[in-house]
Parts: sequence; C-alpha cells; structure tokens
Amino acid sequence: MKPLAKRAYLIKPSPTLSLEAKAKAMRKNGIDVISFSAGEPDFDTADGIKGAAIEAINSGFTKYTPSSGIDELRQVVAENLAKNHGLYYKPDEVLISCGAKHSLYNISMALFEDGDEVIIPSPYWVTYPEQIFLSGATPVFIETHQEDDFLLRPEDLEAIINKKTKGLILNTPSNPVGSAYDISHLEQIAEIAVKHNIYVISDETYGDIVYDGFKQVSIASLNKEIFKITIVVTGVSKSYAMTGWRIGYAAGPKDIINAMGNIQSQSTSNPASISQKAALEALKGGYQDFITMMVERFDRRRKYIVERLNRIEGFTCFTPKGSFYVFPNISGILGKRFSNHVIDSSVRFAEYLLNEAKVAAVPGEAFGAPGYMRLSYATSMENIEKGLDRIEKAIKYFK
Ligand SMILES: Cc1ncc(COP(=O)(O)O)c(C=O)c1O
Repeated sequence: MKPLAKRAYLIKPSPTLSLEAKAKAMRKNGIDVISFSAGEPDFDTADGIKGAAIEAINSGFTKYTPSSGIDELRQVVAENLAKNHGLYYKPDEVLISCGAKHSLYNISMALFEDGDEVIIPSPYWVTYPEQIFLSGATPVFIETHQEDDFLLRPEDLEAIINKKTKGLILNTPSNPVGSAYDISHLEQIAEIAVKHNIYVISDETYGDIVYDGFKQVSIASLNKEIFKITIVVTGVSKSYAMTGWRIGYAAGPKDIINAMGNIQSQSTSNPASISQKAALEALKGGYQDFITMMVERFDRRRKYIVERLNRIEGFTCFTPKGSFYVFPNISGILGKRFSNHVIDSSVRFAEYLLNEAKVAAVPGEAFGAPGYMRLSYATSMENIEKGLDRIEKAIKYFK
C-alpha cells in the first residue's frame, strides 16, 4: 500500500475528545468514572430551540440551503454582533459553518499556507496548531504565565513577529485556562497587529460565559484599522448548550468571508438546514434567562472547585474569568511516587487518576502546558464534589 498523504501523519486526533470517549467506554463497562473532561455544557438545549428544529423538519425545511447559511441567520448574527459588541457587519460578511471549529478551519484554509507563521499563545485550545499544520503554515507559540493571568505580554508578541508572521489567534475567554483580556490589554495587542499588518483571529466562543461582572470586548470593535484585519469567530455551541447541532460562525472582511464560503461550498456545503433554524431561534432572542441560569450554575461550581483545588498540597489554581474550565498547576506533586511508579508528568498523573481513582481530567501537555491539568466543571456539583474527594484521596498515597 502506498503511504498516506503527509498531512495525515501530521495531524493528531483531539486528545480531549478521545479522553472523553475513554471515560464513556469505562462507564459503559460498569466502571463509575467521574469525568472532568467534557468540553460542553451539561444542560439540555432549551425547548423553544428544539421546537424550531421540529418545526423545520415538519415543514419540509430539509433540503440544501445556500452554502454559506440562510439569509435570516446571517442577518441575525450580524444584528447581534452590532447590538452586543458594536461590530457592524453586513450579512454577506458573515459565514455560517458547522461549528466554530469549522469556521476556524475555513479561516486557516483561506489565509494560511506554506511559509507562513501563525502565533498561538499557550496554553492553547488543542485544535489551533493542528489546523495551522493542515494549512501548511507553522504555528509559533508564545508562552503565557500564571503571574500575568495567562495573558499575552505585548512585548513578547512584538518580539516574535517577523516577515513570515501572517496571523495571531486570540481566544478570549480561553479554553483551557479561562483567562480573558480586558479592553486596555486588547488595545495594546491591536496596536501591534495593526502596525505589523497581521490578521487576528478572535475566537470568542465562550464570550457569554463570563464571571464577576467581566465585560467581554471583541478586539475587532476597538477601531477601524483592527476591524479590517480581524475575523471574529463564535457560535451557539457553548452559549445555548447546542454543541451537537454544529452551528458556528465567522464575521470579517468580505473577501475573506467569500473565500471561506467558497472553501465551505466545496467541502461540506451548508450546515444542516434544521440546525440553522434552531440557531436562528436561539439568536433571535428570548434565551437570555437560559444563559444567565447556566452561567450562575457554572459560577457556583467555579468558586467551589477553585477553592478546593487550591487547598490541595502541590496544586495552585488560577481563578478563571470565563469559560467552564479550571487549569491547576500541579507541578508540586510531580516527582512523587506511587508504589513503583514515578508521577513525572501531567500525562502520568492523568493516567494514574483515570486508572486508580476513576477520575478523567486532561493533562496540560495537550494544551502545550506540561505541569498543568484541565478540569471542566460542566458537570454536576455532586460529581465535582465526588471527583475532588477522589483526587485528594489518590494523592494521599503518594510518597
Ligand atoms: C476555544 C474553542 N473554540 C472553538 C470551539 C469549537 O466549538 P464548536 O465547533 O462546537 O462551535 C471550542 C470547543 O471546544 C473551543 O473550546
């Protein structure tokens, strides 16, 4: 057999999805696993949204749609971006895709190629480097630090930019850390991006899930110059608990959106017609109470989990400003022993937790941050309590 294409060897499967699959398989075999690996809200999609999808099916709205999405949905996305973020796009500057992940993929395909460099602050969401690799470009990482609230230092950004730099991916609020940029920090980053004319891909997927009165600002809204070189990406997955419906979107300069639309038209065509109607219902308004309820529940869990993690010897945990993850630094337990094994990395620790304590959490290596671990609190308070009890107990056996 001839070899596969090089890119097939380059690409890694999503470690977060595979860990969740492993935890599910263990559960199927009757093992009581507590999973902190979920990347999705543990709430059901609201009934009204489901109703819109059922109506779409019953009324025969089950055929191809325009490949960049139905006009009404592009329109409502544009209106919401204007109302909520002061971002003024025309409907044809909006592309509806099969999830924000798909929008991001289309961006990579439309903008990046061999020889380009794309800057990704780390810790990063697992998909960014893989999509950049697929485009032929090279991801360039800039490490962020706990003492800076895991935010990109403007001077680090400026220092790494060179002739090959074509883009910067900014994720706020972030997965895996829950860090989020305030306006003055964004202004400094925008100034550098404009000065060097590099594209900014602003992934605002968790924009509605923020705490302590944090105000989510889109970098694209700061001034005309940055608006022209930014592509904003978000979707309905996290805000409306609609991960399985696969609707995300991107908004940006018309030429880029057109190119992305062409790529989409030759790969997936339109996102599911039924899901588009459901997303339309969600975005038309009327579900703010649902989002508020969900964020309040996440917030209670966030406070609890951060407090407890910080009490564990060897752990320190940043208090997230948004999203539904915590990312404790666990380096204080590395090097410890359990029977004959040395826990010498977060990967080892995650394996140990899954096998011995029946707790699933994602090691920091997956996000470019060894010595850390990601725990999602998109799971019930009962699970969180039980899972943390198990982690505490498991560590007691370390020598
Ligand atoms: C930072 C970030 N961006 C984008 C996505 C993709 O979301 P979706 O494709 O479901 O819209 C995720 C999902 O986990 C994410 O964490």
